Amino acid sequence: MTPLLRVRHLGFRWPNGGKALEHCNLEISRPGLWMLVGGNGSGKSTLLRLLAGLLQPSSGSLTCSCTPALVFQNPDHQLLLPSCSSDLQLGLPPGLDARERRLAVQQALALVGLAGLEDRPIHSLSGGQKQRLAIAGAVASGASLLLLDEPTALLDPASQEEILALMAQLTRRREQPLTALWVTHRLEELERCDGAALMHNGKAGSWQSGHALRQQLERQLGALPGGGAKR
Ligand SMILES: Nc1ncnc2c1ncn2[C@@H]1O[C@H](COP(=O)(O)OP(=O)(O)O)[C@@H](O)[C@H]1O
Ligand SMILES: [Mg+2]
Repeated sequence: MTPLLRVRHLGFRWPNGGKALEHCNLEISRPGLWMLVGGNGSGKSTLLRLLAGLLQPSSGSLTCSCTPALVFQNPDHQLLLPSCSSDLQLGLPPGLDARERRLAVQQALALVGLAGLEDRPIHSLSGGQKQRLAIAGAVASGASLLLLDEPTALLDPASQEEILALMAQLTRRREQPLTALWVTHRLEELERCDGAALMHNGKAGSWQSGHALRQQLERQLGALPGGGAKR
């Protein structure tokens, strides 16, 4: 079976010569909620930006049979227009008439639990609602691979859980399940994924169970001076 995503010996250097990725390999062969975890500067955000096509690889290859879209940590950096409806309309694929556009917006809002909020000003939404709107926008634009860069980092615990539950549902639904590559620094989130990989020094480790990776990282953190206050 052709993988949905295949990254082979991917390398990326910044213009200042700094290496962000080197011989990075990663493959996703089926839809699901896939998580990446790793220390600061290990290359997670750079990898997502390469997958989204915002950066060009310096070496190696990247093949993707799905349409990617990024979901940022801070939804205020990606929601541009004043109301839910206008923001979603901005990202819709071209060629839809007015009725189809209205319907697409309605469906996208319903998909993320925001049905009926077409005219709500975005500034009046909670952080969790904004993040759900950003996910709706990605899906409405036709993306089937969501690249989420620490999407719950700025949210309260209840909203974190909502976003996690939403992505788990969208990636496991029977019809057209999405693929999500989710960067996290919250080790408890690893329990909810279909597979997790550790990034270190610009390389991704192999997929393993989120539970096993959480335990491994917690053991390592526990062995640090300070007993795990650092990550
Ligand atoms: N705009 C940039 N210019 C130069 N170097 C950068 C830039 N952004 C990130 N880096 C460097 O690239 C490496 C990988 O960073 P990043 O992908 O942001 O890591 P992570 O998301 O895992 O914290 C780090 O060494 C970081 O300092
Ligand atoms: Mg990052």
